[in-house]
Formats: sequence, C-alpha cells, structure tokens
Amino acid sequence: MKLVAGNSNRPLAEAISTYLNVPLAKAQVRRFADMEVFVEIQENVRGEDTFIIQSTSYPTNDHLMELLIITDALRRASARRITAVIPYFGYARQDRKPAARTPISAKLVANIIAHAGVDRVLTLDLHAGQIQGFFDIPTDNLFAAPTLARDIKDHLDGGNRMVVSPDVGGVVRARALAKRIDAPLAIVDKRRERPGESEVMNIIGDVSGRSCILMDDIVDSGGTLVNAADALLANGAKEVYAYITHGVLSGGAVARIAGSRLKELVITDSIMPTEAVKVAHNIRVISIAQLMGEAIGRTATESSVSSLFD
Ligand code: R5P
Repeated sequence: MKLVAGNSNRPLAEAISTYLNVPLAKAQVRRFADMEVFVEIQENVRGEDTFIIQSTSYPTNDHLMELLIITDALRRASARRITAVIPYFGYARQDRKPAARTPISAKLVANIIAHAGVDRVLTLDLHAGQIQGFFDIPTDNLFAAPTLARDIKDHLDGGNRMVVSPDVGGVVRARALAKRIDAPLAIVDKRRERPGESEVMNIIGDVSGRSCILMDDIVDSGGTLVNAADALLANGAKEVYAYITHGVLSGGAVARIAGSRLKELVITDSIMPTEAVKVAHNIRVISIAQLMGEAIGRTATESSVSSLFD
C-alpha cells in the first residue's frame, strides 16, 4: 500500500500514516512559478494499491487540481489501483438544479475525478447522500457521527441533552446522532413569511432547560449556527453546543463563532484547522484520522468497512 499526500491537510495525512504504520510516499507536490501544479512521485508505485489523501477544501480549485494531477502521475506510473481519500468533498453544495440555468457542480467534479483515473473514492459526510451516486466508481461515504457521539458522551452531561438540526434539510443527519446518544430531537425552522421581510426562526420541539447540540455537516460563514444558537437560547435552552463535521470556516467565521453565544463548536480535522481555529476559545478539533485510516486499511485488505458506520 502507498499513501500519497497532497497539500490540503498534511497533518491529517501524517496522522493516518501513523495509525496505519505506513510512511507517506516520497512525492513533490509544488508549484511552478506561475502557480501551475507540479507533481513528482519519487518512489516506485508500479502495481501498488495507492491512496491519495486530499480534501478539496479552500483553496478548492488548487486542491482539486493537485488531486487530479497526483492521480495522473500515479496512473502513468502503473499504480494498480488509485483510491482518492477525500475527507472533505468540496463543490458538494450545488448538487441539484434549484433554479434554471444553474450547474450541478457536484456531479461535474465527480466526473472529472473519475475521468482523471481514480478507481474508488473514500469520503466523509457528503453534503447530500445522493452525491455518492454521482460517482460511477465504488464510493464509500463514511459518517463522522460515531466519532462525534463518542465525544459528546465523554464531554456533555447525559440527562439533559437535546440534538437540534439547524435547518429542515439536516433533520436526517441530526436524527441519526440523536439516536446514537439517546437524546430527543428539535428542529430550527427558518421561514421568510413574505419577500423582503426578515427570516423568522421557529423552534420545533421544547428546548427549555436543555443542553442543545446543533448538528450539521458544514460550518462555513457560521451564520446558520450563530443564529440558531440565539434562537434556541431565546426559547429557553440552557446552553448551546455545535458538532459539525467539516469546519470550512471562511472569512470572519472564526471571529463570529468566538463572539457568539455558542458554548463550544466541535469540528473534525477533515479540513486542516487554521491558526485562528487553533487559538479560538470556543472551538475544539477532534480527529477522524483513526476512522479514515481504518477504512483505508480495510479497503487495502478487501475487508468490509460497514462496521465503521456503527
Ligand atoms: C447547508 O445546507 C449546510 O448544511 C450548512 O448548514 C451551511 O453550509 C452552513 O453555512 P453557514 O455556516 O455559512 O451558515
């Protein structure tokens, strides 16, 4: 087995390598002077089962190109099989046509990855489950929920917990977490009654006196979480935590979270945490290295990965 890391999340790739006790393959993934991606795999991969560890996170286009060009290098070097390990799959949010003349970027990117020569994909908490079907190659979509649930059980008092979906679209994901930690479920229902009027947040479920746990796949600007936290507290919640798989955290998101009434935001390292994230007083990062590493190991030995979903 050979593990090849792109530049998107070197610390995660190193943690996976440590878990598997397999060193990262020697490779150069750097830039020409004009910023084109230059790749050179510096060891023999002929006939090898290869795994490229690369999130297509910010800067998304650069990291996607690195993934494609590493794939091309491995294919031309006669790797036996190429698995793209994409802990965070970017371009996932345009996964259908909600309006005329809009793209389905998630499908386009899935096509590009497969056409580059990737044989299979290993990813985590796709924005929408159906994106798995956008890949016409075997694709395992792991869930962070077991990792998040373990952390919740270790850190939050049991009796009073309530899982909250920050919008109606996330109910299935939040319900699955609620089941795992044996907690009830509430939903934030955002509505704009009339065009031009500001959005009203209705809480479905009684959150009074509860330790609420907002659960979502992505935190980007942080707006969804901060507004949901305010609405929950206004409805009598005791405190609000958030457990989110992918900490995209663009622009002023970290400052927004730090200045919010969220007690703590817990994210995974599917996207490499920035310095700002590391020093934020109410953001904690937990690792999915073991989960991804175990899935890679099982893929290499052709064993089942289904128990990782439990
Ligand atoms: C939306 O469908 C996603 O699940 C997240 O709720 C959304 O991407 C969060 O975005 P933001 O943090 O910018 O509000």
